[in-house]
Amino acid sequence: MKVGVVGLGTMGAGIAQLAVEAGLETVGREVTDELGEKARGRIDHFLTRKVEKGQIESYDISLLSTTTEVSDFSECDVVIEAIVEELDPKRELFAELEKVCGPDAVLATNTSALSVTEIAGAVSTPERVVGMHFFNPAPLMPLVEIVRAERSSDEAFDTAFELAEKLGKHPIRCHDTPGFVVNRVLIPLLNDCVRVLDEARVTPEDLDAGMKHGAGWPMGPCELVDLVGIDVHVNASEALWEKLREPRMAPPARLVAMANAGLLGRKSGRGFYSYDS
Ligand SMILES: NC(=O)c1ccc[n+]([C@@H]2O[C@H](COP(=O)([O-])OP(=O)(O)OC[C@H]3O[C@@H](n4cnc5c(N)ncnc54)[C@H](O)[C@@H]3O)[C@@H](O)[C@H]2O)c1
Repeated sequence: MKVGVVGLGTMGAGIAQLAVEAGLETVGREVTDELGEKARGRIDHFLTRKVEKGQIESYDISLLSTTTEVSDFSECDVVIEAIVEELDPKRELFAELEKVCGPDAVLATNTSALSVTEIAGAVSTPERVVGMHFFNPAPLMPLVEIVRAERSSDEAFDTAFELAEKLGKHPIRCHDTPGFVVNRVLIPLLNDCVRVLDEARVTPEDLDAGMKHGAGWPMGPCELVDLVGIDVHVNASEALWEKLREPRMAPPARLVAMANAGLLGRKSGRGFYSYDS
């Protein structure tokens, strides 16, 4: 199986790394050669570290080629899109992919918050379009949500599921609804946690201790939002709120203010907690 990955940013580079690790021929596309080469270098570095730590025996970086041309996906069996989270660029890309890929090639999107059905609406063969929603960091998080859009075929859905298994992941099946499965549950839950901070006048430390020691969470909600990025969480909440109009989905004012003030969590050095840079 030959895999294509479009966009080698945070998610795409992780997905391309998984494909190389699984021994699959992989093509990665970026907007410039420089970005492609940088991503390839990062992937090579992470895989070398895995060999050094004894986590894998070896890998073959020559399985990964990078390009700026969509036409280089012509021989791919599955192409996974991981570009910016905006509908128009994704729809444009899928229309281009449809022109160059073989008729049986599956076109998958890693979108978190957009409708897979709306992305599939850009092509004349929507049967081949599915969602493959990886979690960040893709090389470490075991879950992939395999998302069936309105017109996805069983064949495309099964191919995506099998690919996720080949990549060593734990895929689950779901339909194309806002937030799919995990974010649909987790985003309002984290918003509730932040609202409780103000309502119960509990400190972030005590709330985190409460959820870890009383509910068995592996990480406290404030630690988790800091890790995800407060801006990323606010955007995801807004996207769900826009689609579902359930008050719990709307980002709490406290988080919006933190995002606007540049308190973004770990990546900015300060969110609910402070981090050494
Ligand atoms: N970051 C996360 O936690 C996360 C988790 C799950 C899903 N996602 C989804 O994955 C997708 C990518 O997110 P990310 O965080 O990796 O973004 P990112 O900004 O880190 O990476 C996007 C990359 O795509 C490249 N790009 C943009 N347009 C392109 C095009 N037309 N062709 C090729 N490359 C292009 C950019 O240069 C950039 O390197 C989004 O749809 C996002 O919602 C993100």
